[in-house]
Parts: sequence; C-alpha cells; structure tokens
Amino acid sequence: STPDPFIQILPKVELHVHLEGTLTPSLRFALAQRNNLPLHSARLNKTFTSLPDLESAYNLLQPRSIKGVGLSAFFEAYYGGMEVLQSEQDFHDLGIEYFKRAKQMGVVYCEVMFDVQAHTRRGVEIGVLMRGLESARREADELGVKVNYIMCFLRDLSPEDAMMHYEMALPYREMIVGIGLDSNEYGRPPLLFDEVYKRAREDGFKLTCHCDVTQKDTHEHIRQVACELGGTGADRIDHGLDAAEAPELVEIIKIKRTGMTLCPWAYVRHHKEENVFGYVRRLFDAGVLVNISSDSPAYVESNWVVDNLMLLKIKGGFTDDEIVKVQFNAVDICWAPKSLKAEMR
Ligand code: ADE
Ligand code: ZN
Repeated sequence: STPDPFIQILPKVELHVHLEGTLTPSLRFALAQRNNLPLHSARLNKTFTSLPDLESAYNLLQPRSIKGVGLSAFFEAYYGGMEVLQSEQDFHDLGIEYFKRAKQMGVVYCEVMFDVQAHTRRGVEIGVLMRGLESARREADELGVKVNYIMCFLRDLSPEDAMMHYEMALPYREMIVGIGLDSNEYGRPPLLFDEVYKRAREDGFKLTCHCDVTQKDTHEHIRQVACELGGTGADRIDHGLDAAEAPELVEIIKIKRTGMTLCPWAYVRHHKEENVFGYVRRLFDAGVLVNISSDSPAYVESNWVVDNLMLLKIKGGFTDDEIVKVQFNAVDICWAPKSLKAEMR
C-alpha cells in the first residue's frame, strides 16, 4: 500500500526492526546465486529455482493463508532465509538495502536488531557479520540515515551461550547501543537471562526484551522486564501489547517511562483479540511512551514502518497529531546521542 502524503513526509524513527527480517525475496535470491546456494524449504519440501517461485513461498508463510500455521512457521522461514548470508559483503548488502529503503520512507533514525547467534551457529564468524554491518552503517550515515545496532540473544538457546556471545561481541562494543532478547519465548522467561542483562547494564548498554503477544505467562514476562530485568527493569519492552489487559502493569510502565515498541501488522494476524487497536489505544491514551515499528517487515506480508503507521491511522483511528506524538515518543525513548536527540526534537 502507498502511505498517505502526511505519513510519507513526516520524519520517522524506527526502533524495532530485525535486520534479518528485512531480507526480501529478491535479495535472498540474488545472494543465493552469488554464493551458489540452493534455496530449499524443509517445511514445504520444495526447492526454489526462480524469484517468482520464492516470492510465492513468502506468501504461503502468511498465517491466515494456512490454517494452524503460526509463529513456528515464521521462525522457520526467518532462520531459513538468512542461510544465504555468508560474507561480509552479504551483511553489508542486507544492511544497505534496508537503509536505502528507510531513507525513501523518510526514516531519519533507526535502531536495528541483529541475531548474532543465528549466524555464528551456521559457522559465520562474528567479525564477518560485524564488519559488514558497520560498513553498511557508515554508508547509511552518508545518506542521512542514522543507525544504531541492538544485539539480540536467542532465548531458545542457553543463558550461557548468550553470555559467551556477549563477551565475543565486546571488541565491537562501539557499534552496539543496547542488548535485546528474541526468538521463541515459550517457557523462556526474561529473568532466565538476568546475568547477561546485569552485566550489560554495568557495562553501559541499554536494555530491551521481547514480550510477544498472547505468549504463555505474558503478563509475568512483561512484569519481569519492566520491574526486574538487569536489576531494576529494562529501558524498553519490545511488543508487550498484552500489558493493556493489566492496569497495574500499565501504571508501572507509565511511571517508569519504559518505552514500548509496537508492530501492529504483526498482531492483526494472530492476536486472540480481534481489535488489537483497542489495546494500542489503551496504552497510548494512558500516557505510555508507545512507538510504532515494523519488526520483520519482509516476512509480515511485506509491511514496512510506513505501512504500520497507515494501519494505525486507518484501523486504529489515530489522527495525524497522534502519529506525530508517536514519533516524539520514539525520540524520547530512543538511544541516540544527546545531540542527535536534540536535533530530532
Ligand atoms: N525474531 C525476529 N522477529 C521476531 C519476533 N517477532 N519475535 C521474536 N523473535 C523474533
Ligand atoms: Zn521483534
């Protein structure tokens, strides 16, 4: 969909986007060819030999098109997709493709997540990935898009593996503004990773953590992130939409000024509540510092940040003034240097 002129022109800040989730079918296809790799889906038991073929598989991924297909199909596609990322150049190309698109969308500043373990466990050396991301960031800077990186740990792997990767990444700490936790949340409460969060806080990193929607123990997970993670609670919560069901959580998040990064297109497909915008509205009206982002846009029916803002406007009834407020919220809760924050205000 084309965003309306107001949303297009508005300077935007995106705070929750997984770089690996911006891998489009066309880039994936090109990288597979460059690296001489077959494109195969175990779930669909199919090898893709053309771009249209691959594009149709991205469409099959959509939860509403296959009954019973939910988050696990998403993860399979997401982790499967990134197998084409092999060289420093590949990571650079992934980064710069998103940053160029960000520029076209009017995004002036973004905080971009990456999953370090998803690459090292495939045998990609951490330096390959970090050098590729850094050169993409420098190129983005020249385009006028400012970028910071958030390193996420995979919560379905062990806390020890997270700590090991934390230490492996320390030589690159100048590139990393904060620490996050993502992947499959089922049975994996945030506090399981408290040791690495505490260490990161001591070392001066910002802290955030995914709390996916309609997750088992979702309210307890949100409470842990808001109140306890890293000692006194994280700086931000990624998603956490279900806090809207618990007034005491909303109050805590509001008082602590914990930022929330919401990605509406990711919810409308699989949230138990038909009207997810009732939840978004409740948080926003309560004075919670809500930002709207895209999450893994290439895998969410190709819905980028402008599409998420359009959805907020059309389905959520947010006015242009309210959408401006969402951008100012992002400036408040973002981790840009003070001078850049001042510029964005
Ligand atoms: N990794 C990429 N996108 C994710 C999401 N929405 N939830 C958890 N982990 C993710
Ligand atoms: Zn996410």
